[in-house]
Amino acid sequence: MWNDRYNTDAFVYGTEPNDFLLAQFAKIPAGGHVLCLAEGEGRNAVFLAEQGYCVTAVDMSHVGLQKAKRLAESKGLHIETIVANLSEFDFGVNRYDGIVSIFAHLPSPIRKLVHANVKAALKENGIFILEAYTERQLLTDGVGGPPASAKDMFMSSDILSDELEGMQVNMNVELTRILNEGTYHTGNSEVVQCIATKCF
Ligand SMILES: C[S@@+](CC[C@H](N)C(=O)[O-])C[C@H]1O[C@@H](n2cnc3c(N)ncnc32)[C@H](O)[C@@H]1O
Repeated sequence: MWNDRYNTDAFVYGTEPNDFLLAQFAKIPAGGHVLCLAEGEGRNAVFLAEQGYCVTAVDMSHVGLQKAKRLAESKGLHIETIVANLSEFDFGVNRYDGIVSIFAHLPSPIRKLVHANVKAALKENGIFILEAYTERQLLTDGVGGPPASAKDMFMSSDILSDELEGMQVNMNVELTRILNEGTYHTGNSEVVQCIATKCF
């Protein structure tokens, strides 16, 4: 499905970074190593590379990540890309200064595993930045998010509090906002925004 969606010259989520990431990225230690989860066509990864971070982008779509590489190269930047299913990806331990999850909607058993791996993979004082749709998105006229048949893939501040237990949660809010991120994320949107720090 994702390879088909990305199989076009257009960047379907645009080439500009996600607004929440744009506002919050500087909380990640400068020049650090950042892992971008489910990064698709690379708009966020390329932005972070532009800001001087060393960036690894992981996604199951090889078509998306090829576009991500091209976008980086068009700006004279380098990002590492890894084609992998997040359910099997080796996150490692104490490896990243930042991990970014922007609209990375997964079935809940995989999401729980990913969030457990995020906690292990961040270095001390490493920062996790997440924006995702909440189930209220199904009540809006905006475009984006999992279908009604996959409610399990939506997130909420309660879910994140639970799954990020052990981290210092600095922000975890649900809000309504207008998205303008390419063809598939537009209009009135119901999201949760979260920032958490790994503390020992
Ligand atoms: C809505 S797109 C978001 C892309 C990117 N984060 C952005 O904001 O532009 C969701 C992405 O999740 C990826 N994805 C979905 N399930 C995945 C999985 N199990 N493992 C890795 N990537 C996955 C898809 O390939 C797709 O690129």
